Amino acid sequence: MKKIAVVGSINIDYFVEANVLPEKGETVLGNQFFMSLGGKGANQAVAASRLGAKVSFFGSIGSDENSNYVKKMLQKEKVDIAHLNVAKDSHTGVAFIEICQSENRIVVIPGANRETNISYIERLLDEILEHDIVVLQLETPLEMIEHLVPKLFEKGKTILLNPAPALQIRKEILDKVTYLIPNEHEYQIVMNEKGTMEKLLKKFSNKLLITCGINGVKFFDGNTLVQVPAHKVDAVDTTGAGDTFCGAFAVALSEGKDLVDCIEFGNLAAGLSVKKKGAQSGMPFREEINLFVRGEL
Ligand code: RIB
Ligand code: NA
Repeated sequence: MKKIAVVGSINIDYFVEANVLPEKGETVLGNQFFMSLGGKGANQAVAASRLGAKVSFFGSIGSDENSNYVKKMLQKEKVDIAHLNVAKDSHTGVAFIEICQSENRIVVIPGANRETNISYIERLLDEILEHDIVVLQLETPLEMIEHLVPKLFEKGKTILLNPAPALQIRKEILDKVTYLIPNEHEYQIVMNEKGTMEKLLKKFSNKLLITCGINGVKFFDGNTLVQVPAHKVDAVDTTGAGDTFCGAFAVALSEGKDLVDCIEFGNLAAGLSVKKKGAQSGMPFREEINLFVRGEL
């Protein structure tokens, strides 16, 4: 089985859940507060690890209390954190997440994630290159991504880029990415093109996979537009669903599945993940996927 590296962010997520969200200048009473491990990078690593892949995580934590919690959690999830960077002068990344009727709003303060920079990547390049599949997002500095992608490409690595939060990416970087996985709100920003979804999918066939929530995932296979349906479930909290998709998609790739099967596997894992509150609490283990497929869950 191929080895997966995730180069990305780690946050501590502070969730508040309420029936209504406040307007400007308003105060409302909510229902529930909880903290958990998050960050798009860590989420994708945990999703992949729970599904049985060998996953190494490359990223940064601060030198605060939260960093101990993060390390403990990632170890418990069997993610290899041997190369984690401890940033001296910043805090571990944090995300403030409001959930209301299964919708969310997120503010991220990257903190130590800013130290997952070019010099860190250069120091660990040989270690990263020991992996076959490299998974990236955009909560770490864009110049690091722009530096790393060509090096991975040169070595023939499979590169997954989940461009979230959305930033415009240069065409020569997009060309070198193997799979680009934005959601329906992000893709136009990322490509900096106003064209229809169809036009963009055709331009990046078998590469651009747009996740469309309950409408599944769309891509162009060179001949036709393909829409791989989502798994319909009663969503409690969709936070981390995109991350679960990316982690699961990477696992299916590592097992040599074809593109549609990889997307189906991602959809299945993402569908199961939204049944619980929090980014990681609902991420399925391999056994749950097997039970679900057999109709026993
Ligand atoms: O994609 C969900 C994640 O976005 C959360 O875990 C939060 O940390 C933010 O990075
Ligand atoms: Na969830």
